[in-house]
Amino acid sequence: MKTTSAQPGITLAGGIVLPQLGFGVWKMADADARSAAGIAFDAGYRLVDTAAIYGNEIGVGQAIRDAPIARADLCITTKLWNEDHGYEKTIAAFEASLARLGLDYLDLYLIHWPVPENGDYVDAWRAMISLKDAGKVRVIGVSNFHPAQLERLIGETGVAPALNQVELHPRFQQIALREFHVRHGIATQAWSPLGRGTLLADPTIAALARKYGKSPAQIILRWHLDSGIIAIPKSATPARIAQNLDVFDFCLDGEDILRIGALDCADGRIGIVASAFA
Ligand code: A2P
Repeated sequence: MKTTSAQPGITLAGGIVLPQLGFGVWKMADADARSAAGIAFDAGYRLVDTAAIYGNEIGVGQAIRDAPIARADLCITTKLWNEDHGYEKTIAAFEASLARLGLDYLDLYLIHWPVPENGDYVDAWRAMISLKDAGKVRVIGVSNFHPAQLERLIGETGVAPALNQVELHPRFQQIALREFHVRHGIATQAWSPLGRGTLLADPTIAALARKYGKSPAQIILRWHLDSGIIAIPKSATPARIAQNLDVFDFCLDGEDILRIGALDCADGRIGIVASAFA
């Protein structure tokens, strides 16, 4: 998998390189996802993140076929929904996602939420391992998993997820989880890296935007890159889609990374409350 020349990549366990900045399509209908992903591909994104529950895999697949980009140069992620845990159900859900996307292999397949009350995320993980062994998925990982759940996957199967995609932004920095990831060779990927847009008016971010002559979104995305995090900002606005990828010509000073670090707060989560699914 290649990244475009200016884009940094993160090397995952197993040696596959993932673009460090990707494009998220949460909450977009099929037609919107097709259009937005097409704009993102034109702008230079090569990593697109969807999920079965988003209901737009067909639109993303159309954008992939519309794009004048070799399949090998794209990195496509989708996710297993909660009600499809269990070995056989996971295999069937994967095949259904692949068919909706119109692909013959997937780059990254994630368990969307652990949903431990179902008790079968380890079976789902065993199915993911077999999909990878069969060459149908290049990289397998999870989303919204806590350390104890990651430990259980590793302990029961001997295979660590290559990546854990979690809510992560300057107000919810997931420091302890990221330290766990580093110890286990798991890459950290951020959903809602901009805090769903709620962080853009933060005074510290706004001051840094003035200092660097960048937009608040670009400052936040640069913080992710400088922190070794893979970020997948979502936008349905063409100018913002391009702006969010235009972050490779500057770095934050160490003192400014620390200033953003100070925005972390215990109640900074803005997505679904963990207990709803985790
Ligand atoms: P829109 O889709 O209307 O462009 P996150 O990725 O953290 O979930 O944030 C997504 C939200 O942030 C969306 O509401 C999106 O709005 C908004 N957004 C994305 N990029 C930018 C940007 N560069 N400037 C302002 N708002 C942005």
